[in-house]
Amino acid sequence: MKFQSISTESQREVLCGLDGTVQENISLLVDPAKSWQPSDFLPDMAAPDWYEQLAEFREPAKGLSDEVLVVLVGGMVTEEALPTYSISLNIIAEDTEGTSQRPWAKWLRGWTAEENRHGDLLNAFLRLTGRVEMRAIETTIHHLLNSGFNPRVYPDLYAALVYTSFQERATRISHNNIGAMAAHEGNAALGNICRRIAGDEARHEKFYTTIMGAVMEQDPAGGTLATAGMLQRAIAMPGQMMFDGRDPDLFDHFAAVAQRLGVYTVLDYSAIVRHLVATWRIAEQSLSDHAAKAQEFLCRHAERLEMLADRVSERIERMPKVRFSWIQDRLA
Ligand SMILES: [Fe+2]
Ligand SMILES: [Fe+2]
Repeated sequence: MKFQSISTESQREVLCGLDGTVQENISLLVDPAKSWQPSDFLPDMAAPDWYEQLAEFREPAKGLSDEVLVVLVGGMVTEEALPTYSISLNIIAEDTEGTSQRPWAKWLRGWTAEENRHGDLLNAFLRLTGRVEMRAIETTIHHLLNSGFNPRVYPDLYAALVYTSFQERATRISHNNIGAMAAHEGNAALGNICRRIAGDEARHEKFYTTIMGAVMEQDPAGGTLATAGMLQRAIAMPGQMMFDGRDPDLFDHFAAVAQRLGVYTVLDYSAIVRHLVATWRIAEQSLSDHAAKAQEFLCRHAERLEMLADRVSERIERMPKVRFSWIQDRLA
């Protein structure tokens, strides 16, 4: 059975009714005057002692393993495709003029501005390390933006909230894990960078899960159906269309390194499902018909995924290492 929340129009009505909640939660964004900026974490190339600063910055980067570099590049490339995600969220914000003062439009712009620092910071960090092939990485970003991305949400507005709740949590987990690995490999500065980015993702996750939680209160049947539909289609990974002009399976190869390192695994995916189902109290809703079936599906979905986890990691363990253009054709 395919789960689907039916009317976009009634969803739009529910979401418009939540404008006040959206407005209140805009405070989850940080005032631009007080926000961190990429420069706070990088050598100051305009300083008289820039060379010493750069040399000090590059030293611990020499110790980063190729595997950590690959997952860092993959994460950075995904962040750099931000325009694609902003475009796809306009399904909710409906900002036709570009400067709308409606709460959703304000959120989308503020969120975009915060997210934009992630790609900028990781991009500059990687360039300054001198450890990666920046042109191959830039080509990958170019291809990814050029290909676009379909989160398989349209025309379901609630599904867009489910998707973003999921993805913000997933990126928080993966940035945090990369940061811990970088610190372990002696690069405390990179550990700090990844933690700061993960901190942003955590605030963004809070926003989307709060709004979806409010939707569940207004429309438990529609919300449950949308959540089930979204998870049934499986959460499309935002970087999955990445291509460096050479490796047609680049995303799979990158995802395999991430799974092998434990940066983002099937078990993380299932834990996110479990968390969202609990946060939105899906098991406690009193539902009937299709929505009740969707509820049943959701309550057992994490368990189903967990049963797959061993098979997936065994398959990935067996995959041979591949050469990545991002790291001068070294194996990872
Ligand atoms: Fe991000
Ligand atoms: Fe994010």
